[in-house]
Formats: sequence, C-alpha cells, structure tokens
Amino acid sequence: MSAQAPSKRLFIKTYGCQMNVYDSERMADVLSPLGYTMTETPQGADLVVLNTCHIREKATEKVYSELGKLKEMREERLAEGGARMTIAVAGCVAQAEGEEIMRRQPAVDLVVGPQAYHQLPELIARTHRSRGERLSANFEPQDKFDALAPAGRKANGVTAFLTIQEGCDKFCTFCVVPYTRGPEWSRPAAAIEAEARSLAGQGVREVTLLGQNVNAYGDGAGGGLGGLVRRLAKIPGLDRIRYTTSHPRDMDEALIAAHAEVEALMPYLHLPVQSGSDRILKAMNRGHTAERYLGLVEQVRAARPDIALSGDFIVGFPGESEADFEATLQLVREVGYASAFTFKYSRRPGTPAASLDGQVAEAEKADRLARLNTLLDAQQRAFNAAQAGRVLPVLFERPGRNPGDLIGRSPYLQSVHIRAPEGLIGRIAPVRIVAAAKMSLAGELALESA
Ligand code: 5AD
Ligand code: SF4
Repeated sequence: MSAQAPSKRLFIKTYGCQMNVYDSERMADVLSPLGYTMTETPQGADLVVLNTCHIREKATEKVYSELGKLKEMREERLAEGGARMTIAVAGCVAQAEGEEIMRRQPAVDLVVGPQAYHQLPELIARTHRSRGERLSANFEPQDKFDALAPAGRKANGVTAFLTIQEGCDKFCTFCVVPYTRGPEWSRPAAAIEAEARSLAGQGVREVTLLGQNVNAYGDGAGGGLGGLVRRLAKIPGLDRIRYTTSHPRDMDEALIAAHAEVEALMPYLHLPVQSGSDRILKAMNRGHTAERYLGLVEQVRAARPDIALSGDFIVGFPGESEADFEATLQLVREVGYASAFTFKYSRRPGTPAASLDGQVAEAEKADRLARLNTLLDAQQRAFNAAQAGRVLPVLFERPGRNPGDLIGRSPYLQSVHIRAPEGLIGRIAPVRIVAAAKMSLAGELALESA
C-alpha cells in the first residue's frame, strides 16, 4: 500500500486583493497532504474553493451567482455517475456572512473564514464524514500514534483487551487519528457484554476496555462508559475492569461515580493532558484548560482517593515557550502521576499544527523531554515506594523469570514480582509489598490464596 493518497483535484477561484492570492496558496499547501493537487478549471474538480472578497456588494453577488453555476455543474456530473464535488466558501464573504451562506445556497458544503484556514484539513475531513465517506490522507499506513493495542482476541491468559470504541472526533491539531481512524464509533453494549462473558468463561479475570476515546463510549440509549462498566462488573469471574485511553472532555459524572462505587473498576486512570499551558492547549484544540483538567483530577480523587493517575504529554508543540513548558511541569507537580507517556512533538504533514509557525528546535525538544521525564520518573518512584509495607490484592498472571517466581499486577497496574506457587495463576491474593523500584514492586504472599 502506498502512503500517497490518490490524487484529488482542487480548484480555487480567487477574488479580490493580494491577501486573498496569498491565502489561496496557503490553502493549497495545507490541502496537499490530503492528496489535493491544483487544477485550472472547476470542471472535474473534487473540491472547489471560492476565496471571496466582500469589499463591494457587487463582489458578494458574484459569489452567489458563481455558487449557482457550481451547483448545476455538480448535479450534471452526479447525473453522469461522476464523483460528488465539494463546494467551499472562504475569504471575506465567509467571514462576514458565515453560515448565512449555507442558508442562501444549500449546495455549499462548508464555509471557512480567513482565521481558520489551518483547520481546512479538519473541515474537509468532517464534510466527507458527514456524507459517510472516508478521506484517505497520505499519512503513513500504520502511524505510531494511530495504533491501538491488540483488539478483542481470544483469551490468552488471565487478562484481556476488549475493544469497545474506535475513532476520534476531537481533532487535536497535532494528531492523525481523526483522519486515519475516522469518526467516533461505539460497539453495541450487548456484543461487548457477550464477549466479556465469553472471556470470563475462558478464565479471564481482568479486561481492559479499549478505544481511542474510550470514555466517549455511548450505548446508543444515552448510557456511557460508566453504565457499561456497571453492567460488565456483574459478570461472574470478571473481577477487574480497566479502560484506556480517555479524553478529559468525556470524563462525565457517571464514570467518576463508577470509580467510587464499582469495586471491580480498578483505581487507575490514564487521562492525557498533553500540556499544562492554556495557550498551547488552545492551539492543540484540546477543548479544555489546565484548570479544567485539575478540576477533573480533584473530582476523580474525591471519588477514589487512592487512584493512580497516568497521562500523555507532548513537549515542543509549535510555539511552546519556556514559560509554557514550565506550566506543564507545574501541572505535573500539582497532579502527581503514577506513570506517564511523554513525546517530543512530531510534525505530521496534513495536520493543522504541521503548518504552524514557531516549530521548536529538536535540541530544545530533547532538553524539555529530559526535564519532564526526570520529574515524572521521580513521581513514579515515589508512587511505587509508597506501596512498600502495604498489603495489596494482586492478580497473578504468569510465571516470572526465575523458577518459582510469579508476576502479577496490583490494582494500580504495577507489576509485582513474588515467590509463589504456580497454582495461583488466575487468582487474586493479598501480597505484602516489600520493595519498590521504578517499574515494579516485589512482594510476598500475605495470606493463603483468596
Ligand atoms: N507528536 C507527538 N506526540 C503525539 N501524539 C499524538 N500525535 C502526536 C504528535 N504528532 C501523542 C499524544 C497522544 C499519544 C497517543 O500520542 O500524546 O495522547
Ligand atoms: Fe488524537 Fe486528540 Fe483524538 Fe487523542 S483525542 S486520538 S490525541 S485527536
């Protein structure tokens, strides 16, 4: 499979001043990674953009008359069995009249003002989605940020992943997933429950519910992930439930309440924040502020005080200053993470952030990543060290490296190494934690097996 998207033809008609001429070139640039190449006429174009001018009433009227012609052209082509042409209005008429344009000429698919050209890839992708079409951009086939952990497989041990949701509608400006994986979609609850029952019947004691935006899960009847967790928690033998990855915007009250009330829901939450700077969060199109994130953390901790928090972080997003990065460090200090995934910003052509000014130098990114990792590593060690002396219920998963050793997991997703009989695999037993390292704990059986 080639990484290059099939070529689509783009026609931009530019009205008015030099500013518009310049903007038309920029629009062509941001659309080229989606496979659009420029063409000289609207005939045969897959996407037509009218980059408009509002300076005189006459100029505006010209736009409406052009739109009428485009509508006819589209209808003729559809009647001949051709592909549907997408019609967009950009420029100053778009800015001034906004959605009014779509009311006056319903053939228009999208309206985009000059402030939002960097969002064109998102807007075009959304337009295609609303028609049920997939837009194949020239993103690498298996982008490293696109890959979900292995999905809904046959039971192979005492823990299993279970895909319940796919896709993403969030359009973070750095991320390819909304383009490559398409819209948010949830599996029917009954199918999920059936698979979970089957897994439990095969000896699975712990499931991790998976989705790119797992907490955007909806069962179609108004129930979200909290409700699904409650439903799955009733399955005999299924003692532990986890889920990943969550978005702060979808962290609802019902899910937070489930953390307080559902014993099987493990006290671990992976809640990516990406940055602690509101300016950067806005440029990332995250849809939340640092304060909102901290508020959620507070609510979750009120529901489940011992919860282990984990996050994703990006350093060196375009325009990130030292002060913005400091804000990230400060947020990390305030939250106190049990684990984390950190990334240097990586430019993904076709995503809006790729064409932003202020790309951060590689050496600066590396330096910030190292400083962030130092802080997060210390937090992870501290979180693990705090378990020493405690007795934790451990699910025994598999034999360890040394004969006579088993490896299990604490409720907080820590690996626990322990000398114990193999018969304990698949059981949950109390373990006294005797030592802690960065990546794992060591323990000894506290009681006979439960
Ligand atoms: N550059 C760096 N990190 C990225 N992620 C997604 N896209 C990018 C990118 N372009 C990270 C985010 C996300 C995780 C799965 O991958 O932190 O949460
Ligand atoms: Fe990418 Fe943002 Fe969607 Fe996560 S929420 S998959 S980072 S666009």
